[in-house]
Amino acid sequence: MNTNSDVKIYEYDAVIVGAGLAGLAAAKELTAAGKKTAVITKLHPLRSHSGAAQGGINAALGKDDSTELHEFDTVKGSDYLADQDAVELMCTKAPETIRWAEHMGTVFSRDEEGDIAIRPFGGQSKPRACYAKDRTGLALLQAIYEQAFREGIEVFDEWYCADLLYEDGKVSGVSAFNIRNSEPAIFNAKVTMFATGGHARAYRFNSNAHANTGDSLSIVARHGLPLEDMEFVQFHPSGLGGSGVLISEAARGEGGRLYNSEGERFMSKYAPNAMELASRDVVSRAIMEEVRQGRGVGKDGQSVNIDLTHLDPEIILTRLPELRELAIAFQGQDMLKEPIHISATAHYSMGGIPVNIDCQVRKSPTEFVEGFYAAGECSCVSVHGANRLGANSVLEALLFGRHAGENMVKALDEGVELRKANKADAQRMLDELKRIKTSNGTERVADLRTELQNGMTADAGVFRTKESLERQLKLIDRLLKRFNNIRIDDKSHTFNTELQEALELGHMLEFSKFIVVGALNREESRGGHYREDFPTRDDERFLKHTYAYMDEDFNITTEWGDVVLGKFEPKERTY
Ligand code: FUM
Repeated sequence: MNTNSDVKIYEYDAVIVGAGLAGLAAAKELTAAGKKTAVITKLHPLRSHSGAAQGGINAALGKDDSTELHEFDTVKGSDYLADQDAVELMCTKAPETIRWAEHMGTVFSRDEEGDIAIRPFGGQSKPRACYAKDRTGLALLQAIYEQAFREGIEVFDEWYCADLLYEDGKVSGVSAFNIRNSEPAIFNAKVTMFATGGHARAYRFNSNAHANTGDSLSIVARHGLPLEDMEFVQFHPSGLGGSGVLISEAARGEGGRLYNSEGERFMSKYAPNAMELASRDVVSRAIMEEVRQGRGVGKDGQSVNIDLTHLDPEIILTRLPELRELAIAFQGQDMLKEPIHISATAHYSMGGIPVNIDCQVRKSPTEFVEGFYAAGECSCVSVHGANRLGANSVLEALLFGRHAGENMVKALDEGVELRKANKADAQRMLDELKRIKTSNGTERVADLRTELQNGMTADAGVFRTKESLERQLKLIDRLLKRFNNIRIDDKSHTFNTELQEALELGHMLEFSKFIVVGALNREESRGGHYREDFPTRDDERFLKHTYAYMDEDFNITTEWGDVVLGKFEPKERTY
């Protein structure tokens, strides 16, 4: 696949990259409205990372709950950086979204009255995480996929999206290749949506699927378009020690308690009211502080204990069966009988491709890209601000994915024109593939990736300082240079995963630089971004969104964008 004469051009009304909850919900809306829609995914849809969401999806369904309380908890959880118009939309539409998901066939767990069961989650004043045991994402993904499939969505699975067709402020599709046989193609469309999920694979300890390499972020950034608030990475308090595999917050929601090596229930020092159910940023920092003070457990002392042995075994067996299996499989620890070792794990990105509440991608804080939409974790509609509440991400993906689909239908009905693509539009992708395949360098993808991941965890992780971030910035710059000198051994056209991993590494290096530059610029601590040298929040200087842009030499410049404030005035956040 070296010349663009091999390139096939497909024409669609809409092209969606990513087949998790956001992408499938959008595709379903579009297809149901009669729009010719292609979904491109480097996996099979049912292997999308949405399916790994365990604990729940929030909606104010409880008798003494309200959507306004859900809004307040979300804004407080975000350390007041969330855009309150987006939060209002999400929280008010959440109950209807749950009913919709139920009507799509999602089998939610039930309470004794037969209503959808709800459980407590961190940072929330009421139980509101609706769930399907501890496999909520999978239950939702299967239902939405089936319904989208029934509508007749066209899925190009195991296709790798390599570039965006962007010209004169307008997007007209993507270039991609078939992972099975390297066949290149252009997906030319009137409207295009990115719904590619998260990027926590940039960290050594993370809870994410192998596919979560944040490709779409740097694909967008390579065109000079901004990324927003990338410095805000969420570290989930409970990854299995050593591997980072997720042990859902549901474990704490159902009553799990955290202990250090001295048997102290240490959350009383950090969040005396909410204890284990403080927001994730607070609990993760508490865990890592205990570890730093030498009160960790496990072989390397890098974990703490979560204890569920005081719970009725029935609760574990019926509501947390997968968590139990994971801890047995990965650590040989049975939560029915003993505490298990957990530690903070990179889990989620609050930042991403900036969008407004209609999911339209921004070109700057005040301008938009034509024909381009994004939703779910790869986007930043900023409902999470500086820290996301557990069970708000599945909600965001489903709700804004659907909303993006509806908005694309509207745009198509209003007569968006197709900018006709030509084969030359694939040239950037072909050049990049050729460069990697023919490069005769000495560097190995796995080595560079390991250095990046170790550095991100150590120096741009739960605790950050100017010194640690500058060290990581220098490392990334060195790795970007070394990336030019990589070599892959597999020159074949069939399932060339070595080539794919090289492309993914390029993306990880680039968006990681956004994380580090954003973290250096933000001389305050807010939500998931904790600067030990600036330990307090500084609303005067930093109640702002970061917009960051990359040039061809990977230099990054930033500007500030306004936060949409509303009925909740910024206050000190305590739990
Ligand atoms: O802990 C969990 O079950 C994860 C949920 C989430 O990230 O929303």
